[in-house]
Amino acid sequence: MIDQVTVDKVLETANSQIVEVVSDYVTLRRRGINYLGNCPFHNEKTPSFTVSPHKGIFKCFGCGEGGNALNFVMKHDQLSFVDAIKYLGKKFNIHIEEEEYSPEQLKQKNERESMMVLSEFAGHFFGKNLTETDEGKSVGLSYFRSRGFRDDIIEKFQLGYSPEQRDAFTKEALKQGYKLEYLEKTGLTIVRDNYQADRFRGRVMFPIHSLAGKVIAFGGRILKNDKKTAKYLNSPESDIYHKSRVLYGIYHAKQEITRQDRCYLVEGYTDVLSFHQAGINNVVASSGTALTSDQIRLIARFTKNITIIYDGDPAGLKASLRGIDLVLAEGMNVKILLLPDGEDPDTFAKERNEEQLTQYIEEHQQDFIKFKTSLLLADAQNDPIKKAQLIQDIVRSISIIPDRITQSVYVKECSTLLKVDERVLMQETGKLQKKKLEEEFRRNAPRPSNEPPPEIFNQPSSAPTSQQTPNVAVNPLELEEREILRFLVKFGERPVNPDEEQKVSVGQYILHELKQDDLLSANPSYNKMMEAYDAAIGTSDITALKFFVNNSDPELSKLASDLIGKEHDLSRIHSKFGVVTHAEEKLPELVPKIVMELKWKKVKLVIKEKRQQLQQMEASGNMDGLMELMQELTTWQQVLAHISKELGGRTIV
Ligand code: CTP
Ligand code: MN
Repeated sequence: MIDQVTVDKVLETANSQIVEVVSDYVTLRRRGINYLGNCPFHNEKTPSFTVSPHKGIFKCFGCGEGGNALNFVMKHDQLSFVDAIKYLGKKFNIHIEEEEYSPEQLKQKNERESMMVLSEFAGHFFGKNLTETDEGKSVGLSYFRSRGFRDDIIEKFQLGYSPEQRDAFTKEALKQGYKLEYLEKTGLTIVRDNYQADRFRGRVMFPIHSLAGKVIAFGGRILKNDKKTAKYLNSPESDIYHKSRVLYGIYHAKQEITRQDRCYLVEGYTDVLSFHQAGINNVVASSGTALTSDQIRLIARFTKNITIIYDGDPAGLKASLRGIDLVLAEGMNVKILLLPDGEDPDTFAKERNEEQLTQYIEEHQQDFIKFKTSLLLADAQNDPIKKAQLIQDIVRSISIIPDRITQSVYVKECSTLLKVDERVLMQETGKLQKKKLEEEFRRNAPRPSNEPPPEIFNQPSSAPTSQQTPNVAVNPLELEEREILRFLVKFGERPVNPDEEQKVSVGQYILHELKQDDLLSANPSYNKMMEAYDAAIGTSDITALKFFVNNSDPELSKLASDLIGKEHDLSRIHSKFGVVTHAEEKLPELVPKIVMELKWKKVKLVIKEKRQQLQQMEASGNMDGLMELMQELTTWQQVLAHISKELGGRTIV
């Protein structure tokens, strides 16, 4: 835990020197008041990545990525919030005071740290053994070389060798002062009453790195083809190694996964190595365990697109099919590439250079519907029962996808490919989903509780928590709300009308107006922004821009940078009045106007909804309800007329 004062200090310093922060990663050139460079977050030849030193933000007009200095390093180095603050603190010589741990926390933290330090030491030990001892060179290194691995790859992945001798590593570690307790807890040493032995003796070693690049576990491979011994041995589950949440190669792949916006998923250690050797770095393996949802979520932090590349044998096939549904359930896009029988990604990559490999993948990867279809259609073609099963199978996968729109895209494809009516497929999908929901409901309910019902007013559960681009489909008031928020961020602390005696700030005005009419947004991030500002102005004098851009909540700082990053579309509404550049001079006129615009649109929506209800009422013949609704509608229309008048005589449509 880092205290808030330090966080604020780091943020303010880093944002005010954002050009320095970004320059560590991107070559920037001055362009007017801004700086320009090639975006590190997507591939581009002409620079569209802009840094604004006086706003303290960056924005790529190619891929849309944007934010403050903290957001930049978090994204670029894939750091957690705390690690990013630490990094920036170090860069700007700000001492970071960490809050104290409880004795229990401290013990755990110390244990974990001891295990990490030991693992790091073990990595070095095995690495040195591989390249500096006779046994290592003649057995381990020659094995890697015989498999065609280059020295730079061996070094990059810190491959190693664990000597044949029963306790060579354990002895050395104890001699260096590492405790037996941690040797046992990391699984490096097998401890019995009467002896201690190295777990990995006589194996070549593959260190497994955490997301941050620390060694947390090992895989060890035997050298002989001995059917009786397991080919690979892996570190056991421990406080620093949770198999189901780790992917082999993620540390070495993460940056390239972001850049390519795609991750290749293979099966084993050597597959990852061979891809890197061929020049393809966006690859990870679920080695040692069957793929898990946690592992997919780990990939999801970097991309939504996964290509599963497995062996073409029955085991690989089975694993692919399982993988597909897991990936779909996380709302991600999945493609599958089955290699020709007898090949695995390792052998396959070794026979090709980067270009050939990339080209092969691009040409042969299939979306899951084509994949399943081509897999089964050959013998299902003339067999109606088999075909029906195939369709059921595909529909089941489609029903796992959380997003409706994506579902419908796949339904369409399935319909074309298998010549089945789209509506039938949609119905089937719906049925399966309903069944799943019911099952879930049964599992979770009933749970009697005295708590008040959750506040759902105006907040559809599907509303995204943070958005970069206006999303009118989800939130019909998106444009108007963003406009208001933009004013809040830019001018929050300024008086709406400097000539008036009672000076009300833009922020106060907006908050008051929206609160009085209960105008909550459908977008939780927008509400969060309002609430945060409301809380902040109660306690101190703040500059809205600084408050938001330097906010320690990355969601808010990112949203704020996004809002003010696109100056050129300030403003859709106000260009009508010929005011584009000097909004601040017209605050007394503009601020009430943007609020009115929102209200106008909101009332329009209410009226539209009431009209629809009216039609339904008419159809059902409920006369009492009808009269009541018509009265309501009349009132709303009066409200609309009133607002229109204030807005300067907008015609009612
Ligand atoms: N694996 C394991 N234990 C085993 C066999 C396999 O943990 N007894 C894991 C390893 O992570 C391995 C992956 O499953 O990398 C894939 O297995 P396999 O295809 O058999 O191994 P390869 O990666 O092909 O290994 P090699 O090329 O060295 O034979
Ligand atoms: Mn292999």
